[in-house]
Amino acid sequence: MVKKIRSENFGPFSLQNHNLVCVKFAAAFFLVGFGFRLLLWDSFTFSFVLETQTQTQTPPSPPLTETKAESSVVSSLLKTPESDDFQVNNKSQTSLNVSGKCDLFVGDWVADLSNPMYTNESCHVIESPQNCMKNGRPDLGYLYWRWTPQECELPKLNPNNFLNLMRNKAMAFVGDSISRNHVQSLLCILSQVEPAIEVYHDREYRSKIWKFPSHNFTLSVIWTPFLIKAIIHEDMNGVSSSLVQLHLDTLDNQWTKQFNNFDYVVIGGGKWFLKSAIYRENNTVTGCHFCPGKNLTELGFDYAYRKALQLVFNFFTNSNHNATVLFRTTTPDHFENGEWFSGGYCNRTVPFKEGQIDMVAVDSIMRGIEVEEFEKANTLLGFENGVKLKLLDTTFLSLLRPDGHPGPYRQFQPFARDENGKVQNDCLHWCLPGPIDSWNDIVMEMLVNGQ
Ligand SMILES: *[C@@H]1O[C@H](CO)[C@@H](O)[C@H](O)[C@H]1NC(C)=O
Ligand SMILES: *[C@@H]1O[C@H](CO)[C@@H](O)[C@H](O)[C@H]1NC(C)=O
Ligand SMILES: *[C@@H]1O[C@H](CO)[C@@H](O)[C@H](O)[C@H]1NC(C)=O
Ligand SMILES: *[C@@H]1O[C@H](CO)[C@@H](O)[C@H](O)[C@H]1NC(C)=O
Ligand SMILES: *[C@@H]1O[C@H](CO)[C@@H](O)[C@H](O)[C@H]1NC(C)=O
Ligand SMILES: *[C@@H]1O[C@H](CO)[C@@H](O)[C@H](O)[C@H]1NC(C)=O
Ligand SMILES: *[C@@H]1O[C@H](CO)[C@@H](O)[C@H](O)[C@H]1NC(C)=O
Ligand SMILES: *[C@@H]1O[C@H](CO)[C@@H](O)[C@H](O)[C@H]1NC(C)=O
Repeated sequence: MVKKIRSENFGPFSLQNHNLVCVKFAAAFFLVGFGFRLLLWDSFTFSFVLETQTQTQTPPSPPLTETKAESSVVSSLLKTPESDDFQVNNKSQTSLNVSGKCDLFVGDWVADLSNPMYTNESCHVIESPQNCMKNGRPDLGYLYWRWTPQECELPKLNPNNFLNLMRNKAMAFVGDSISRNHVQSLLCILSQVEPAIEVYHDREYRSKIWKFPSHNFTLSVIWTPFLIKAIIHEDMNGVSSSLVQLHLDTLDNQWTKQFNNFDYVVIGGGKWFLKSAIYRENNTVTGCHFCPGKNLTELGFDYAYRKALQLVFNFFTNSNHNATVLFRTTTPDHFENGEWFSGGYCNRTVPFKEGQIDMVAVDSIMRGIEVEEFEKANTLLGFENGVKLKLLDTTFLSLLRPDGHPGPYRQFQPFARDENGKVQNDCLHWCLPGPIDSWNDIVMEMLVNGQ
């Protein structure tokens, strides 16, 4: 997956400079130490002040400058044979051409003058941190690009057709805040035909259920950032009192107990596994990820992520429920010249062309695990199985869209008071409308044409 280096140097995105990789890793660990809660927690509730305060409450993390010490730790943590040169997954992007059908995930972003399906005026359910238009993002060019697969046409999701297809059906998005971002996009598109009625939300407004009464279609989002059982000691502000306890042998029943209610499931995760965590198996602590001072074996996030996905896929291969499951691959972020906590930003205004950007190692590792475990599971599934598994491989096409994030416009009018004021950037979630709408075009295509 990590492709050969090209002439242009994209700073922290490039793998050309080994030190940069180390910095990125150091950053990942640093960020893990501080909880990564900024972007993956409910973005309503944090403040930057809070972030900096919590630094004193979390276990000491290696300072960013200690890259030398970090790099040796890193290579032992990753436990992948190729981790020395970071060529973690050598598969090319086109390797998933299974059936000889059009590969929806190989293509380019092509300029498209047609207006987005909805705006901040016509969709009323855009959550404030993703409402870039309302929040005053000045450039609108990011709205006029269309994901265009190399080998076929990808029509925009037609909300009428989609709702008709979903008549008397139930669909769920299962995962972290990226899944919520994704479901919001779908809600906005569908609400142009029939407004959704929210019929349930949990206490924290993270899991929700909507109905589209005239189509008897039920749409859910289930917040389960690890997909497996996790004890998360965080309050509503994302302040953690102790490390996450992850049960690597138990799925989160928040989603498994509801699975049989759904005809369609879009499931994904990943980024939360970068957090500091204690790993448990058979109810005993078997190790941890980034827990300095705890005298536990560092097993690496990749170990836990693979275990988690094996559980998830085992659940599907052993289920006799009839459902179509789209497994969504990891989402790259686009922080440049820093991370979210260290002044990183994403102010590009046009997409990358294929070949202009390389994936960072953490994302390559995650997607590598995802694809491997998916393919293993998929070969186990026969015609007689209820579950149909499909790979919603959005990683690469998303990597090409550094221009689609809220950046500073996760806040309302971030520069209203001070043009040069310091603001927090979000270079992980997506503006609505924005590139993530294309994910739904692809979902529609996969469901309709059985791609
Ligand atoms: C990766 O692929 C290239 C050519 O596509 C090949 O020469 C190289 O040996 C591969 N590396 C690994 C580790 O498989
Ligand atoms: C996909 O497979 C078909 C048939 O096997 C082939 O003709 C086509 O070129 C492949 N496409 C890509 C992008 O590899
Ligand atoms: C929508 O965004 C525009 C700027 O793009 C702004 O002028 C308008 O007030 C916003 N409307 C709502 C309802 O937020
Ligand atoms: C609505 O859909 C559910 C399945 O999601 C089905 O059980 C129910 O019978 C449907 N109701 C009507 C009125 O068709
Ligand atoms: C957990 O327990 C089972 C059965 O008791 C055993 O087979 C397995 O190896 C144990 N796993 C670990 C990680 O200790
Ligand atoms: C760390 O754990 C090992 C084995 O569990 C134990 O032998 C050792 O004494 C521990 N070290 C400290 C400093 O607690
Ligand atoms: C699943 O669907 C198939 C037909 O596609 C049907 O034969 C089978 O009985 C269904 N299984 C369940 C558990 O509903
Ligand atoms: C992005 O911000 C950096 C630093 O403020 C600046 O140097 C660069 O010109 C900006 N790029 C764009 C496209 O605005």
